[in-house]
Amino acid sequence: MSKIKVVFWSQSGNTEAMAKAIVEGVVAGGKDAEAIFVSDITPGDLKDDNVFALGCPAMGAEVLEEMEMEPFVEALESMVNGKTILLFGSYGWGDGEWMRDWVDRMSAAGAKVMNGEGLMCHEVPDDAGIEECINWGKQMATL
Ligand SMILES: Cc1cc2nc3c(=O)[nH]c(=O)nc-3n(C[C@H](O)[C@H](O)[C@H](O)COP(=O)(O)O)c2cc1C
Repeated sequence: MSKIKVVFWSQSGNTEAMAKAIVEGVVAGGKDAEAIFVSDITPGDLKDDNVFALGCPAMGAEVLEEMEMEPFVEALESMVNGKTILLFGSYGWGDGEWMRDWVDRMSAAGAKVMNGEGLMCHEVPDDAGIEECINWGKQMATL
């Protein structure tokens, strides 16, 4: 059985902590998973994966990180039709606009966004946030 890939970009570690908790949840749910920094994978590596997770904090002015994550997501748009994707990330002062836009974008590309929404934590994920990541990871393991 192949590992569920949890691909993320993170500058100060908050989204990375979410990625690791999602992996923990998948494993607790009985499947294998790995957290992968976006620069360590290519979009083509997700070609045969029907379920995976993508994480990125709110950056710029309510956008994805522009050097690595944005081009990665753009390249995925033509190949996510029918795939189930968990979107997640940490944010600071905004209201989650970057995540709403990201969910809309992946849905428009034909992906099934898990739970129809993204998983967000404010800055450093607190215990409840980590618990939520673990629970979403467990849900992923059922797919
Ligand atoms: C350059 C920069 C731009 C940011 N832009 C936003 C933003 O538009 N909206 C928001 O809510 N938070 C914004 N933030 C806050 C980050 O999303 C937040 O600190 C997050 O926890 C960082 O996640 P990370 O530790 O995974 O890098 C920004 C942070 C930086 C450094």
